[in-house]
Amino acid sequence: MRELKSVIVRPARDVLGSLRMPGDKSISHRYAMLAALASGRSRFENFAPGADCASTLGCVQALGCTVERDAQGAVTIDGLGSQLRASSAPLDCGNSGSTMRMLAGIVAGQPFASEMIGDESLSRRPMKRIIEPLTRMGAEIHSADGDCAPLRIKGTKLHGIEYQVPVASAQVKTSLLFAGLLAEGQTKVEEPSRTRDHGELALRAFGANVDCLRNTVTIQGGQTLHPLEACIPGDISSAAFFLCAAAIFPESNLVIDGVLLNPTRSAVLDVLAAMGSRISMVRVEEQYGELVGTVTLVPGVGQPITIAGARTALLIDELPVLAAIAPFTAGGLEVRDAGELRVKESDRLSAVTQNLRAMGAQVEQTADGWRIPGRQKLHGAEIESFGDHRIAMAFTIASLRAGSETRIQDSGCVAISYPNFFEDLELVVER
Ligand code: S3P
Repeated sequence: MRELKSVIVRPARDVLGSLRMPGDKSISHRYAMLAALASGRSRFENFAPGADCASTLGCVQALGCTVERDAQGAVTIDGLGSQLRASSAPLDCGNSGSTMRMLAGIVAGQPFASEMIGDESLSRRPMKRIIEPLTRMGAEIHSADGDCAPLRIKGTKLHGIEYQVPVASAQVKTSLLFAGLLAEGQTKVEEPSRTRDHGELALRAFGANVDCLRNTVTIQGGQTLHPLEACIPGDISSAAFFLCAAAIFPESNLVIDGVLLNPTRSAVLDVLAAMGSRISMVRVEEQYGELVGTVTLVPGVGQPITIAGARTALLIDELPVLAAIAPFTAGGLEVRDAGELRVKESDRLSAVTQNLRAMGAQVEQTADGWRIPGRQKLHGAEIESFGDHRIAMAFTIASLRAGSETRIQDSGCVAISYPNFFEDLELVVER
């Protein structure tokens, strides 16, 4: 059992200085999984330090790969060249939906059976979205009631399929591309709207050919991967917390170095700009298909913002923090088409509403989003994190602008993606 700590957050004056983010979680998962399938040694600097990516490393190790992590956070993985070994114990995915869904695509294509388990939160999350297409590719998958984990997957020689993903999900797309890599023939995945493209870029970085045309990605099975040495860009979803904090204090000036600027991930910068912040990007370069650069934010007064449709899918991880700062913006925020928030690590739609109301905010929760007026004054409160890292961090940021102290319950859950979040926050917050 994780120890349930809480932290007190005191109001702040502004956010000043510069930070570097831990390695991007989405990229770290994918690089680790593909390194397992490559022949030879891969090495990643700035590998994501959180518990989620540690779950992926643990699974990769259980599947026969040697994994080492040095004191500076670099990870080396000795890949087995697409023939992994059966694990004697269940593959423990912890809290990580990415680990379970994406790795399922890999173990489905192995000539042995695997069991995948997760914590209480992960065991409630929907898995039908991967069970259905992977079954069509030839795998045999048994799940608990309601298509949830634990999953028992009897791997086999898969065959390629053409599949329209019903829900915009990069985890599902990536799972099917990984399965498609191990399958006979061609796999074509069409998504309802564009989602983060790290799976496609990572496959190319490891030497595979992947074709992308609008919302459809195609991969030919049977390609071999070479190992990769790379430095993982800073996580833009983690940077979003600090950028949002800076955006709500007029005297702020914040620089984030070496952060991921992939256009399928950086929509939060456009939203903050529309909310009034001046954002500049310098030293932008490409690393294995991923854009990386330095972002500076200086706050200002902006417009009311509506996030809906395809844009909602691109901002899915940043919506809690955007909602948490919305009361302090000039124009407020409306979010629509965000029903997926209900099936994240917690029901993030309700968690945000409950916590905003606890701080005295006016917020209207709809079936799939919120309407949150701007120019509100909030007070300190008891915040329930629901064991969800993004809820704990989002409300830590809102608390900086509250009129009094706030307690974030179970604040230790930030370690899922960002173990040093509170320490890094203290480096840039002025009181
Ligand atoms: C992720 C995709 C998103 C996101 C998650 C990471 C990924 O999930 O919420 O934090 O790395 O592909 P969905 O695919 O379920 O939308």
